[in-house]
Amino acid sequence: MTIGRDGVTMTRWRLDSREDLTSFIKNQIAAIRAQVGPKNVICGLSGGVDSSVAAALVHRAIGSQLTSIFIDNGLMRLNEPEQVVSIFRRLGFKVIHVDARKRFMARLANISDPELKRKIIGEEFVRVFEQEANSLGQVDFLVQGTIYSDVVESGAATGPSLKTHHNVGGLPEKMELKLIEPLRSLYKNEVRALGQELNLPPELVWRHPFPGPGLAVRILGEVTREKVSILQAADSIVIEEIKKAGWYPKLWQVFAVLPNIQSVGVVAGKRTYAYTVGIRAVQSVDAMTAEWAQLPATLLDKIARRLTTEIPHVNRVVYDITSKPPATIEWE
Ligand code: XMP
Repeated sequence: MTIGRDGVTMTRWRLDSREDLTSFIKNQIAAIRAQVGPKNVICGLSGGVDSSVAAALVHRAIGSQLTSIFIDNGLMRLNEPEQVVSIFRRLGFKVIHVDARKRFMARLANISDPELKRKIIGEEFVRVFEQEANSLGQVDFLVQGTIYSDVVESGAATGPSLKTHHNVGGLPEKMELKLIEPLRSLYKNEVRALGQELNLPPELVWRHPFPGPGLAVRILGEVTREKVSILQAADSIVIEEIKKAGWYPKLWQVFAVLPNIQSVGVVAGKRTYAYTVGIRAVQSVDAMTAEWAQLPATLLDKIARRLTTEIPHVNRVVYDITSKPPATIEWE
C-alpha cells in the first residue's frame, strides 16, 4: 500500500515477523541517518507508546544528536514524570526534564470548558517546548510518533479530514522544523512489537493510551491542585488493583475520573460531604468504538473500598457502564 503526502510516496511496511522488524529497523536507521546528517534533532517525550518508540528508533540511529524534552504539566499520573524520565535516561537518552506544573495550573485557573482546557494545554505545551528548543541552539528536525491510524484519521492518506488528530500539535509549522516520522506506516500492534525489539521496558510498551491534556480532561469542571492529587491517588489505586487482578492487558484503557460531584456520606456515625470517583474501563480495538468492561463485582468492590478508606476526600464510587457510542471513552 502506498501513502501520498506532500508529494512523498511511502510503502506501508508489514511487521509480521522478527525478520520484518529487524529489516524495518535497519532500513529506518539508514533513512534517518541520511535525512539528518550531522544536524540536531529534538523530540517531545510523553511516556506514550508511539512517541517513545519513535524516539527510541531515532536514538538508535543518531544517539546524542537527539535531545528529548519531557514537559511535566502537572497533569500526569502519580509518579509518572519521574518514571518516564528515568527510563529514558537509563537507556542513554539526553533528556531535559521541564517542570512546568505552575505555568499550566496558573493558566487553567477558573477554566471549566473541556475544549478550552485542551486549547490552553496545547498552547502552553507549544510555548514551553519552543522555549526549551530555542535554548538548544540550532535544531533542524523534530521526531513525531505519528502512526498509520493518525495519518488516516487526519485525512492525509484518504482525502478530506475526518478529524484533526489530538497528538499533532502546531509545533513544526511554528518552529519551521522538518519532521521525522518513522512510524507513519505502522499500526499500533506493530509499534508495540517494534518497541519490544528496541528493548523498551514492557511497562512502557504495553501502557494504555493517555490523553495529551492528561488528568485535566478527567476532572470535570475547574482543575485545581487538590483535585489533581485526589485523582492521582484514586487512579493509582484503580490501576494497581486492575493489574493485580490480571485485567490490565485485557483492557484498552482503565482509569479514574473525578466528576464535579460532592455528596453526603457517613463514617463512624459522622456525616461527610466528599467527592465521588468514577471508574472507567473499556475494551476496544482502535478507540473509535468501545465496550464497557464487565469487571468482576468482587474487583470493583475491592477498588471502591480502597478508594473510600485510603483517600479522605472520597466517599462514593460509581462504575461507568456506557459504551462508545453514545459515550466517549474520556468524560470530557
Ligand atoms: P474519546 O474520549 O474521544 O477518546 O472516546 C478516544 C481516544 O483518544 C484519547 N483522547 C485524547 N488523546 N488528546 C489526546 O492525546 C486528547 O485531547 C484526547 N481526548 C481523548 C482517549 O484517551 C482515547 O484513547
